[in-house]
Amino acid sequence: ATYDLAIRGGTVATGQGAIRCDIGIRDGRIAALAESIPEAARVLDATGLLVIPGGVDSHCHIAQAEANGTRHEESFATASHSAFLGGTTSVVTFIPHVKGSALAPHVADAEAQASRESMMDYAFHQIIADPTEAVLAEIPGLVAKGIRSLKVFLTYEPLHLSDGEFLKVLLAARRNGCLVTVHCENFDAISWRTQALLDAGLTAPKYHAWSRPPVVEREATHRAIALAELVDQPIQVFHVSCAEAAEEIARAQARGLKVWGETCPQYLTLTAADMDRPGFEGAKWMCSPSPRDAAEQGRIWEMIQRGTLGVVSSDHCGFSYEGEAGKAMNGRDAVFRDIPNGIPGLAARMPILFSEGVAKGRIGLDEFVALTSANAARLMGLYPRKGAILPGSDADLVLWDPTRTQTLTNAMMGHAIDYTPFEGLEVTGWPVATLRRGEIVMQDGKVQAEPGSGRFLPRGLYDYIRPTGRLANGFDAAPWPVA
Ligand code: URP
Ligand code: ZN
Ligand code: ZN
Ligand code: ZN
Repeated sequence: ATYDLAIRGGTVATGQGAIRCDIGIRDGRIAALAESIPEAARVLDATGLLVIPGGVDSHCHIAQAEANGTRHEESFATASHSAFLGGTTSVVTFIPHVKGSALAPHVADAEAQASRESMMDYAFHQIIADPTEAVLAEIPGLVAKGIRSLKVFLTYEPLHLSDGEFLKVLLAARRNGCLVTVHCENFDAISWRTQALLDAGLTAPKYHAWSRPPVVEREATHRAIALAELVDQPIQVFHVSCAEAAEEIARAQARGLKVWGETCPQYLTLTAADMDRPGFEGAKWMCSPSPRDAAEQGRIWEMIQRGTLGVVSSDHCGFSYEGEAGKAMNGRDAVFRDIPNGIPGLAARMPILFSEGVAKGRIGLDEFVALTSANAARLMGLYPRKGAILPGSDADLVLWDPTRTQTLTNAMMGHAIDYTPFEGLEVTGWPVATLRRGEIVMQDGKVQAEPGSGRFLPRGLYDYIRPTGRLANGFDAAPWPVA
């Protein structure tokens, strides 16, 4: 047969309109889009379904080794299972870094974890916790491997960087042709407020939100953008939770800066009130930045609709509620400062965005495709291999039932974490089959793929992260590599 697989009868949502056509797949790639694909070894019937690009989740913490010697419970195997259930086929995960150490051992560990267990295709962001000369000298080696994005934190102890350290990372990124992704919250402001809350006896999980109000996110976002502008280095601001931070991004974009913003389903569906429960229970909703309130959710939707926030990632960072490595690792009476931050959301990401976005009329199908796959693929240098339904693209596809309704439960998430913060949320729209490079890896809630079958996605130099060339006084301290 001419094709290994044909998907027949579906409505194909390309991200640039939706059309009724068949898709012919050969050697793991999309080989043809046609009114009819008659000859194929195998056929999938997509009648009544949408066919969309497999999700690209560009912000997930998987099997991440922590400075305290623990490793996140979510392995690449369980994460892949969860991802396929929710329609995601590619991820960008983190290589950790600990102050005083070289990057290389962390890189080797992350590569070993992913290559052994991942069923999803994957790329890496390298965290920089300590931009010493020696650490920065390792970046060309990362780039040679195809790792093209750096992640920095402006908060968290001991990850947070000073302005001077952040500038060093921005300059190294520019010199090497990398994207810089930034966690924007003001460390000193949060530290002061946290101590003041604890001193006042306000220690329960809900005070996590009180410790980091929107102003600390807005300030750090403004500062990150200003320093990136000074260096002329493209950045992506991670997990934007409030309109005042998003407005900083909108202003930067209006000035022509290469500044992009990401948000997550938690900032569209959860609120700080979710953490306000008796005892320790509220820890299940604890993530940073904190979920806000219903009015803020509405403003985040507006910033999505305006195009300011172009990527919706999960920031999947799971800690089980029970168990030694979980939310209660420091005891069930731990003060909020000592509870690990992060929530799981790999499987829930696309169903929530479809339901809250497309089914409720806030966004169209093109925007859904852009927000869940195409824009992340573009920004990470993976497009059009990923995030597109074009001849030559990898055949990462999801057959999506736009009318199926479900109530989310933890069992449906298929992850290693013992709860979902989205338990009980009603969604309309659900993935019924997921294909990764032409292979059916999920059908009707059953995942079938080989651990280790996921491929590393090396990234070359790409135009999206080319600096604007606008430098104060025309002085270029860190020339961009010319391909
Ligand atoms: O609470 C969160 N988001 N934890 C994950 C680490 C991060 O800040 O992205
Ligand atoms: Zn410190
Ligand atoms: Zn973060
Ligand atoms: Zn994160």
